[in-house]
Amino acid sequence: MSTASDNGPLLRARGIVKRFGKFQALQGVDLAVRPGTVHSVIGPNGAGKTTLFHILTGTLRASEGSIVFDGIDVTHEADYQRVQRGIARSFQVTSLFANLSVRENLRLAAQGAQPAGAYDCWRPPSGPRALAGIVDAALERLGLARQAGTAAGALSHGQQRRLEVGMALAAQPRAIFLDEPTSGMGVDDLDEMKQLIRSLREDHTVVLIEHNMGIVMDISDTVTVMQQGRVLVEGPPRAIRDDERVRTAYLGNMITGGRQ
Ligand SMILES: Nc1ncnc2c1ncn2[C@@H]1O[C@H](COP(=O)(O)OP(=O)(O)OP(=O)(O)O)[C@@H](O)[C@H]1O
Ligand SMILES: [Mg+2]
Repeated sequence: MSTASDNGPLLRARGIVKRFGKFQALQGVDLAVRPGTVHSVIGPNGAGKTTLFHILTGTLRASEGSIVFDGIDVTHEADYQRVQRGIARSFQVTSLFANLSVRENLRLAAQGAQPAGAYDCWRPPSGPRALAGIVDAALERLGLARQAGTAAGALSHGQQRRLEVGMALAAQPRAIFLDEPTSGMGVDDLDEMKQLIRSLREDHTVVLIEHNMGIVMDISDTVTVMQQGRVLVEGPPRAIRDDERVRTAYLGNMITGGRQ
């Protein structure tokens, strides 16, 4: 069986179509994400980025097409099954437990991702001690070690957004999907989030939807530009920045009132 360790993509989506009634939000999208990279998906509002994420993570089912993750066809698997395979997405701030500490939030996320029976005492590699290690590592990486005992609800907005990423991280995924992790952030918090995402590449593969072009250009290995449910262009950041088709796509979006 071919796996990502054969230097192939960790995730490969082919011919993804998504219909909402008569409207076709995705019109045959191909995406190949190499392991150990930050792969950004950008494009004007309504291009289909979030819909594609939902289909890759299992929140939505594709109308057509296939998704292979680490050599396994996951097209028809539910989101929780894909979590077990190592696909995680960031949670929304609203899914944090505001009254629980940062550490407790992370512990619950780590615990939730363990396969059923992980607490069976006959299976030593899992269990509370392993969980504590995962949580400590996540706290360090998030830059939230000093806030470990703080209630999630008392964190600053920027810290909460980092904790959201951490909730996905605690599941120890192979691939982590982040949909606009910097949205609503002040400039002060942007740099910390950027460093965090960049650091994830050491142990994970990152698929990122991001509208902040500075961040996309700085931290991506590959950029896929979507427009109207299709892939417009794909390549390294520099090529994307200089691509006339990309400029035109964003210009059209500005004229029609999009935020980008
Ligand atoms: N559940 C749904 N039912 C009907 N249409 C939908 C649904 N979800 C998304 N759409 C439509 O599909 C298209 C793509 O939406 P999507 O949210 O994927 O875009 P996006 O690229 O994430 O945009 P943004 O940058 O604004 O987040 C839009 O026209 C949207 O209105
Ligand atoms: Mg979106």
